[in-house]
Amino acid sequence: MRLRKKHFAIPEMKENPFVFYDGEKYKGKWMEVFENNNPIYLELGAGKGTFTAQSAMDNPNINYIMVEMESNAFIYGTRKILEYKLTNVRALPIKAENILNYFEDEEISRIYINFCTPWPKLKHQKRRLTYPDFLKKYKVILKDGGDIYLKTDDRDFFEDSLKYFEDQRFMEVLRDFDMKEEEYPLNIVTEYERKWRDQNKPICFGVFEKYVD
Ligand SMILES: C[S@@+](CC[C@H](N)C(=O)[O-])C[C@H]1O[C@@H](n2cnc3c(N)ncnc32)[C@H](O)[C@@H]1O
Repeated sequence: MRLRKKHFAIPEMKENPFVFYDGEKYKGKWMEVFENNNPIYLELGAGKGTFTAQSAMDNPNINYIMVEMESNAFIYGTRKILEYKLTNVRALPIKAENILNYFEDEEISRIYINFCTPWPKLKHQKRRLTYPDFLKKYKVILKDGGDIYLKTDDRDFFEDSLKYFEDQRFMEVLRDFDMKEEEYPLNIVTEYERKWRDQNKPICFGVFEKYVD
């Protein structure tokens, strides 16, 4: 079922000073946007923004940029910035494919990928946000020692992703095929994660670090 387009979403986001429709202009200059030199963390496919909003409240000394291509969901994420006065959050309404147009080499300290579409069919797998073409781009914008946090409810997708990260020479710091909530007291539960946890679906979690040989 396709959701009906929310026609108010894009005009409203364009009025929001924390949403950047001209984000290319700030490539290499995000520190100036935040007016500090705190680390910058990206969330790709941020949806309704619950994860970044909570992370930003818990970590005022980190800057967050949410990336999301669907205005129907993102309108709610971008509203949260204003609602909770999150001065350390900005929003980019773009496709993750184009990330290199928006960030300079080594501008980013961490990337979160939470419950991205698993695209099980072989012909669609190149759309996965962990597919090697994407990992190559993330490697450019991540600092040395920067990392990628991946959570998913789809074990097959997770196992494929472990291979992609290994092939792209990321260092696997952690893998967990059943991330129990009680073992990760600092975990911030996303919208999709809540749905799957309520159905007792195991959640896979991995952390992968960029390192220089
Ligand atoms: C299943 S939802 C998960 C939303 C949220 N991260 C969560 O955990 O609740 C996946 C989101 O990723 C977004 N997405 C998928 N592919 C994307 C891409 N190439 N660039 C930007 N966003 C993407 C979708 O629009 C959708 O909002």
